[in-house]
Amino acid sequence: MTFTPAPWPRQLRSQHWYGGTSRDAIYHRGWMKNQGYPHDLFDGRPVIGILNTWSDLTPCNGHLRELAEKVKAGVWEAGGFPVEVPVFSASENTFRPTAMMFRNLAALAIEETMRGQPIDGAVLLVGCDKTTPSLLMAAASTDIPSIVVTGGPMLNGYFRGERVGSGTHLWKFSEAVKAGEMTQEEFLEAEASMSRSTGTCNTMGTASTMASMAEALGMALSGNAAIPAVDSRRRVMAQLSGRRIVQMVKDDLKPSDILTKPAFENAIRTNGAIGGSTNAVIHLLAIAGRVGVDLTLDDWDRCGRDVKTIVNLMPSGAYLMEEFFYAGGLPVVLKRLGEAGQLHKDALTVSGMTIWDEVRDVVNWNEDVILPADKPLTEQGGIAVLRGNLAPRGAVLKPSAASPHLLVHRGRAVVFEDIDDYKARIEDEALDIDETCVMVMKNCGPKGYPGMAEVGNMGLPPKVLRKGITDMVRISDARMSGTAYGTVVLHTSPEAAAGGPLAVVRDGDFIELDVPNRRLHLDIPDAELAARLAEWRPTHEVPTSGYAWLHQAHVEGADTGADLDFLKGCRGNPVGKDSH
Ligand code: FES
Ligand code: MG
Repeated sequence: MTFTPAPWPRQLRSQHWYGGTSRDAIYHRGWMKNQGYPHDLFDGRPVIGILNTWSDLTPCNGHLRELAEKVKAGVWEAGGFPVEVPVFSASENTFRPTAMMFRNLAALAIEETMRGQPIDGAVLLVGCDKTTPSLLMAAASTDIPSIVVTGGPMLNGYFRGERVGSGTHLWKFSEAVKAGEMTQEEFLEAEASMSRSTGTCNTMGTASTMASMAEALGMALSGNAAIPAVDSRRRVMAQLSGRRIVQMVKDDLKPSDILTKPAFENAIRTNGAIGGSTNAVIHLLAIAGRVGVDLTLDDWDRCGRDVKTIVNLMPSGAYLMEEFFYAGGLPVVLKRLGEAGQLHKDALTVSGMTIWDEVRDVVNWNEDVILPADKPLTEQGGIAVLRGNLAPRGAVLKPSAASPHLLVHRGRAVVFEDIDDYKARIEDEALDIDETCVMVMKNCGPKGYPGMAEVGNMGLPPKVLRKGITDMVRISDARMSGTAYGTVVLHTSPEAAAGGPLAVVRDGDFIELDVPNRRLHLDIPDAELAARLAEWRPTHEVPTSGYAWLHQAHVEGADTGADLDFLKGCRGNPVGKDSH
């Protein structure tokens, strides 16, 4: 990939606000001076927006104000003018009905924050799951030079001598409580040992996956993904990124130069190698949609199919992000992909160098954590994209998180009409269900929930758990937390609330799952399916106003990234008019 830096000096967009002696220039500049900025800062140097998703209610990003100070130091050192700008923080663990409903709202608000203000370059200060894609989507739509700085993962959790992974153990412990193997008091004690430092989830959940995606896409400096939040090198990374963005602005190195189809293919293969979250499927499709790259679900299946999962992290494996960092982190994985012929080596990164130049000389310091190519966690990592009469536009499953004996399975459907129906009946001892059944849940997709919640890994019925069974085939139009596991078919498209075939599955129907052949089949005659679809009427909640209405009216299916239809594409960053 050849990139030719723009000539420097030249006039930047911030000079439309701060340059000259017009009344408007004085207005924009003068008010800024109330913060104590000397006049020469407005001389045309790059103004760098540090877009900060800090919030007390986004605990995973709770330390980002300290990190922002390091970014600022780097920007000053390189001759830029840093301005810290708080942006919409789509907190995974607080937002109801689900943070996913607000990813697009955040992306919309942040896009306008970037475009409408004197920002020449942006540092995307992110961490928690949705914060990374929402800022990348905004950066892609404005095409303003941008670099990702991640907050970094929490340190390892330990409970009674055993590693405790964020999320992953929450699901395990709550099943153990249901099965009568753990008391509520023990559960509370475990809770406290799970999150013992600042940072994002320490498993290869969605936050770590998206940090890895940002690095694999070339949108972060090499090594950014894995450094623990509290490690001093995290702060060094922030400072170096602050320095780097200033030069990126001078060179005019934009998201569209980096976010090419080969970059997305690198990210998809990386997701396979790290055993990453299924949520990355939706987020990468959405980012690609913003930058105008033609990426589809089929690219996910095609690129991920022969990628071995070599990162031995929960939820698929044994270790946590702290150990991944000590082993060498994502650069080691990218090097492995390169050696296997599965990396577009000449893809450009924010450093101005190719991805291969960044990783060719790194060393794997722990082959239990990043496994050798001949001893992978899973031969076929990646994400399986299933199709069939139950999912005409696709559904996904993460083979590395599934049970091998269930990858080919035929079972009787036990149907829950929505999440409330599931919650009301799952603990009923009279529910006609056993471990051979297929649990089906409807109305949990982008429109249906609304917002596509992480409820696809429905907990098993207590009477099945008591037998020592820990996995069953589950199918829905929901998502699943990146920290979760199981033989779980997700993102079934079209979703039930949009009238997809999922909407008409009935108790007692038989469903066939065949992951090796990528098939998901509802075993009823075609005519019967057509008749049921013809008489189907929606049953999901329909908001009548507010953002929930906007979201439901305009959200697209999971198969294309669940973005709002009117936000797709790159709108660039010129704004012709001033405010007065
Ligand atoms: Fe925020 Fe996991 S909930 S990173
Ligand atoms: Mg999550």
